[in-house]
Amino acid sequence: MQEQIDKLRHDLLEQVSQSGDLKGLDGVRVAALGKKGAVTALMKQLGQVDADQRRELGAELNRLKDSIAEAIETRRDDLERSELDRRLAEERIDVTLPVRPELHGTVHPVSQVTNEIMAIFCELGFEVAEGPDIEDDWYNFGALNIPPEHPARQDHDTFYLSAQDRADRPVLRTHTSPVQIRNMLASKPPIRIIAPGRTYRSDSDMTHTPMFHQVEGLVVDEKTHMGHLKGCLRDFVEAFFQVDDVPMRYRPSYFPFTSPSMEVDIGCSFEGGQLKIGGGHGWLEILGSGMVHPRVLKNGGIDPDKYQGFAFGMGIDRVAMLKYGIPDLRAFFDADLRWLRHYGFAALDMPTLYGGLAR
Ligand code: DAH
Repeated sequence: MQEQIDKLRHDLLEQVSQSGDLKGLDGVRVAALGKKGAVTALMKQLGQVDADQRRELGAELNRLKDSIAEAIETRRDDLERSELDRRLAEERIDVTLPVRPELHGTVHPVSQVTNEIMAIFCELGFEVAEGPDIEDDWYNFGALNIPPEHPARQDHDTFYLSAQDRADRPVLRTHTSPVQIRNMLASKPPIRIIAPGRTYRSDSDMTHTPMFHQVEGLVVDEKTHMGHLKGCLRDFVEAFFQVDDVPMRYRPSYFPFTSPSMEVDIGCSFEGGQLKIGGGHGWLEILGSGMVHPRVLKNGGIDPDKYQGFAFGMGIDRVAMLKYGIPDLRAFFDADLRWLRHYGFAALDMPTLYGGLAR
């Protein structure tokens, strides 16, 4: 019987190592260790052997069983691994295929300029905040000190999403200022955020589209004052337009959510039909700003006796037009590929203060 065991071990190990797939391997397992398998058959014969030999042969058969089971296990691991390798090789996708030039996209000027604005303000220590495009009437107006009967509501050409005049009536936000309120309610001073995003007003001509983009800025701290506002906007304007010493003018204005309120102009010249930011005798309005109204702070859950802040709101499309000399706002949203190829930016040129913010 010992001879039989040795031969069986030799044969079975060979069958295991030669089985080329999981199914074949399982066949070998059943033929060796199954109920009617070769090893099981030998076990059954033990009964006919005399007692002394039986103990020895029994132990020997158990070792055989173990070594075959182990060999099958190892072989199964190998087969599974090579099966996985085969599938990985077969299902491989070559992501390194070169882009076909005719399909090569560009970065839209609005995205580019938004990235430039974020790069500058983040360098100044601001964080980027977001809010929903569909706002409650309260966040868009009420909390910003624009009650229902307020005349400023008429200027906003609001898209209302419900006929009812309720405080929680949904509107398409007419400006990014509601993000101020959401951010004040969700955090504690010191606050330093900018909030770029889409805004909507029912208005359309050379310089207005029903959907446009704004960026809101908000700073709140115990001693924030107008000097901070002016310094911050100067740093921004010079970095954005890449011009030193841009003349800046603060004109008194009115916004319900700030007091005092100012519109900010930058100096420019129009020589030979060319707009140049920086010198000259002309002025261009670029944003609205002011010190946050105490009532707005209160609506944002902030104590106006302890904190004060400044805010500003700027049209992204407008400064994109100024910086890159794009004449008609409506073309921004025509999705005309020729326009995009002309005014678009290379996809891998991420704007940074160090790498450059201009074409
Ligand atoms: N929300 C104003 C608008 O859409 C812009 C604005 C003006 C925002 C002054 C401000 C601000 O935060 O302080 O016309």
